[in-house]
Amino acid sequence: MHKENPKDLVPQFFNDTSNSYDKIVNYTTFGKDSFWKHKMLEQLSNEKTVLDLACGTGILTKQIAEKLPHAEIVGVDITKNYLEKAKNKLLSYQNISFIIQDAEKLNLGKKFDCITASYLPKYCTATILIKNCVDHLNSGGKIVLHDFTYPQNKLFQKLWNFYFKLLNLAGFFIPEWKQVFIDLPNLIRNTNWVREYEKAMNDCGLKIHKQDLTCGSSTIIVGTKII
Ligand SMILES: C[S@@+](CC[C@H](N)C(=O)[O-])C[C@H]1O[C@@H](n2cnc3c(N)ncnc32)[C@H](O)[C@@H]1O
Repeated sequence: MHKENPKDLVPQFFNDTSNSYDKIVNYTTFGKDSFWKHKMLEQLSNEKTVLDLACGTGILTKQIAEKLPHAEIVGVDITKNYLEKAKNKLLSYQNISFIIQDAEKLNLGKKFDCITASYLPKYCTATILIKNCVDHLNSGGKIVLHDFTYPQNKLFQKLWNFYFKLLNLAGFFIPEWKQVFIDLPNLIRNTNWVREYEKAMNDCGLKIHKQDLTCGSSTIIVGTKII
């Protein structure tokens, strides 16, 4: 098991990386980040209110605003630098607002038709995050969670491990990302986020749908609040 609490990695990973995040996430996933976010967006249709948890620099938040131009969208993140980046990038979107808050202590005093979170689940405790989401979700609303997963297939595991070894080397040239490239693969190998969130959603009575993507290197779980 990963000894460190994944939440302790959040300031280490994100306090100093907001300026290069958009490029790094695109290049290091070979553009798959866009594809995964596109698959998340497929879950949205005509929602009037959307909460994007751990919105970071606002990549997904912007795509939600473009898909649902009449929706009210709120982006929440715990890291000031990332949120500032999102605010500056998306100034022209009148329907997006941003709030600095810990998703595990979520208290927005309102409910949403959909709650999205890309790359958040592995840092949080499933039972806490899902309860907070359910409390902020309208009846019939959806929680759309996405994050990295460690492939099950042995061959893909070998390729995945080799790729992260290369990223470790690349870290020498991008100092602010060096430690992330060392710690992230361990975190992904050791997390059980998919099983834990499925159980938490199930315990809260949500209807669950799961999608494994890109050779099992990423997963989306959708939980629908039936009542
Ligand atoms: C890898 S970034 C992802 C940003 C964005 N969702 C995206 O897909 O581009 C992870 C984000 O999660 C945020 N985060 C981690 N734990 C959080 C928490 N407990 N509450 C709110 N945000 C959190 C970090 O601050 C960081 O901005």
